[in-house]
Amino acid sequence: MAIVARETVADPSWEIEIRAVDLNPAALEKAGRARYSAWALRETPIDIRSKWFRADGHDFVLDDAVRAAVKIEPANLAGDDPNLWQAAHYDVIFCRNVLMYFAPDQMRAAISRIAASLAPGGYLFLGHAETLRGISDDFHLCHTHDTFYYRRKKQLGSGCPQDIDIKSAVKTAELPAIALTTAWVDTIRQASERVAALVAAAKAVESPKQVRTNGWALKSALDLLRHERFGEALDCVRGGPPEAEDDPDVLLVKAMLLSHSGELAAAEDACRRLLQIDGLNAGAHYVLALCREHAGQRGRAMEHDRIAAHLDPGFAMPRLHCGLLARHAGDRAGARRELQQALVLLQREDVSRLLLFGGGFTRDALIGICQSAVAECEERS
Ligand SMILES: C[S@@+](CC[C@H](N)C(=O)[O-])C[C@H]1O[C@@H](n2cnc3c(N)ncnc32)[C@H](O)[C@@H]1O
Repeated sequence: MAIVARETVADPSWEIEIRAVDLNPAALEKAGRARYSAWALRETPIDIRSKWFRADGHDFVLDDAVRAAVKIEPANLAGDDPNLWQAAHYDVIFCRNVLMYFAPDQMRAAISRIAASLAPGGYLFLGHAETLRGISDDFHLCHTHDTFYYRRKKQLGSGCPQDIDIKSAVKTAELPAIALTTAWVDTIRQASERVAALVAAAKAVESPKQVRTNGWALKSALDLLRHERFGEALDCVRGGPPEAEDDPDVLLVKAMLLSHSGELAAAEDACRRLLQIDGLNAGAHYVLALCREHAGQRGRAMEHDRIAAHLDPGFAMPRLHCGLLARHAGDRAGARRELQQALVLLQREDVSRLLLFGGGFTRDALIGICQSAVAECEERS
């Protein structure tokens, strides 16, 4: 970082301070030595290595001036040290692969201290598998050059995002299995036809009185969905009381059902509204990916899939969708990587999430799609 700062900051009047902390004295001592193996510098361009490091035996030793630009000191990120956590003090914080070892409450507390000690608009970089989803509402997610990072909001303190409560609203029972014929391809074709017919039929009929007169509830919509009554489920979320309109769960179910029934502009509106309320909502990004694909923007669709997968690393559907899009684009290696991830995640994907996002397919049918696509990528490569 000190090298990058020297190489890239054009204005010499800038004063750049880098503070490096760790709990472990051995890690601090190693950092202080600033001695790196060739392997540790494998991603460092050769010209940078020659300019800023001196070879010493098998190792490379960092230039003293660069090393002196970094203040290395002991600190505990789980503690309340007022010197470390000065308000609005830092412009950028890099905290890679540390918080993932914290218990959820400890992680929330550390992130809230990080947020308060960042200047408004300051940046936070975490490890590639770490996400603030469900941890903090104090950051916007940013994405560029295949990298995710966070930007502190101007105002802090909207609290922790609500966890999506779809699980508790749906009985954890598997969808009734689709009558299996010879191959999963038939299963999928049948399911698609059935979903289309159900949506059309339900639109032609009035919604059940029971749903309207017994008071509106998200649970009713999800129960209807569970019984594959997609059109009625959509009527149900649409017919909710005004105060439910901005409920994140309602918006997500509505967005998914709208995309199901081909009302893509309305689905995107619901997603954008949802993202205004919960900027780290993985489901909203997945629905946006489906909508962008329908609009013929496969690149944008993959971007939303990647954001969804980053925000929720256990979410199988964006991986599957992104893998199929990569295969379509001829990127067989990328497709295989995503699809193999999807295969692992699908085995343990939550039943209610499969119900909401699985497009009417059973877990087995989705696994079949994945396996077949992986096999095809392997055959051709
Ligand atoms: C997996 S390493 C990651 C190191 C580095 N950020 C990277 O990505 O290569 C985790 C580091 O976090 C440090 N660590 C663990 N708990 C800590 C805490 N509560 N406060 C400060 N550092 C901590 C460990 O000593 C270790 O050096």
